[in-house]
Amino acid sequence: MQKLLIKGKQQLSGKISISGSKNSSLPILAATILGNSIKLFNVPLVKDIFTMIELLKFIGLTIKISKDKNSLEILNNDKNINTLAPYKLVKTMRAGVLVLGSLLSKYQKAKVSLPGGCAIGTRPVDLHLLALKKLGAKIKIKNGYIIAEAKKGLRGTTIKFPSISVGATENAILAAFQAKGKTILKNCATEPEIKDLVQFLNRLGGNIKIFSRKIIINECKKIKNKIRHKIIFDRIEFGTYIIAGALIGKKISINNINFSYIKNEINILKKMGVKIKKTKNSVIVAKAKKLNKINISTKPYPGFPTDLQAQLMVLMTQAKGTSKIKENIFENRFMHVPELKRMGANIKIKNKTATIQGPSKLTGAEVMATDLRASVSLVLAGLVADNRTIINRIYHLDRGYERLDKKLRKCNAKISRI
Ligand code: UD1
Repeated sequence: MQKLLIKGKQQLSGKISISGSKNSSLPILAATILGNSIKLFNVPLVKDIFTMIELLKFIGLTIKISKDKNSLEILNNDKNINTLAPYKLVKTMRAGVLVLGSLLSKYQKAKVSLPGGCAIGTRPVDLHLLALKKLGAKIKIKNGYIIAEAKKGLRGTTIKFPSISVGATENAILAAFQAKGKTILKNCATEPEIKDLVQFLNRLGGNIKIFSRKIIINECKKIKNKIRHKIIFDRIEFGTYIIAGALIGKKISINNINFSYIKNEINILKKMGVKIKKTKNSVIVAKAKKLNKINISTKPYPGFPTDLQAQLMVLMTQAKGTSKIKENIFENRFMHVPELKRMGANIKIKNKTATIQGPSKLTGAEVMATDLRASVSLVLAGLVADNRTIINRIYHLDRGYERLDKKLRKCNAKISRI
């Protein structure tokens, strides 16, 4: 099993180009089932994307990957379609459940493995199923599978989600795409990745509009052929590298971004005292001379993302005073804390809140990655710590970060795979 070895305290300088968003690519890949001939650009070639490609191939799509261009060509001739998403492909990547909406919308039936829990929480799919049922699907759960059917096709309706879910909003949009008439979704997630999915579907022939937390989907009657779409940048990858720059950057320039999606995160970092200089589509960041404490709560977009909480916590360990993070989205998302404490951080957890007392001198240690974002927080801690940090189980990292060690090495970090 591969490990990452980091020799800390090396100042970083250079350029980092942000990859396409994993969380945008996954629902858009699920949406390609709805089309016939599609080319996607700026796709991050990380493990979760390969798992989704495998799932689409299993369903019957043909996919050509251009690794050097980060592009995918996806063909669906609607022949020999298997409306099944098997356990072995959904268990490692929950986003596999998103093919449910597309398969039901286009082929009126689907059998998709229940994704089950994962390290960060129980992560149910009740909200996904609630939306599909309201659209007219008959749903049974049998032998660990969701068996869904809509013999006469789905019908547009109004659905109000009892709470906000990214995945359920995406699945509902995909299912409603070809449902008869108009669908109105209320209390939706409106993450930039959802906007990207809607833009893609509108290119495919859809008529979907987003208003604050409401999304209106008018039935798509004619699918367009030969669609080309460029995936938006990964705002979580951006947040991770800007925090690396704030921790130990001499001067890092981060490119390939769009400010309109990351205003809130940039404001929080500025409040902490991080010096950020904006240029047209990049930012320049350097180690903050003095970091201030701050309190944040994770919330659905435009609130602070749960996917950036672990990384911000590392920055808080270097800030003067007591900072707090309240995690409102997932119930078990502080698994990086015991590992950060082993590296010298002073953190206490009570219920949903982590209290971080800083600044702490971090020292290298052998640590264990537990999930995607927790693993990258250990990389950040390793970069700023004295001596050597070894991170085990880095397959978590490879699920979502494209060439992380190469990108950091280009900025003079001493990081290698062993
Ligand atoms: C997506 C992101 C993930 C991010 C999360 C929150 C992808 C591939 N993953 O995950 O990186 O951390 O949004 O921003 O885009 N819930 C229910 N019932 C449901 C669905 C969700 O109770 O049917 C709960 C979850 O347990 C969680 C909360 O709703 O507490 C939000 O989850 P959700 O927004 O659905 O996250 P995902 O779409 O799984």
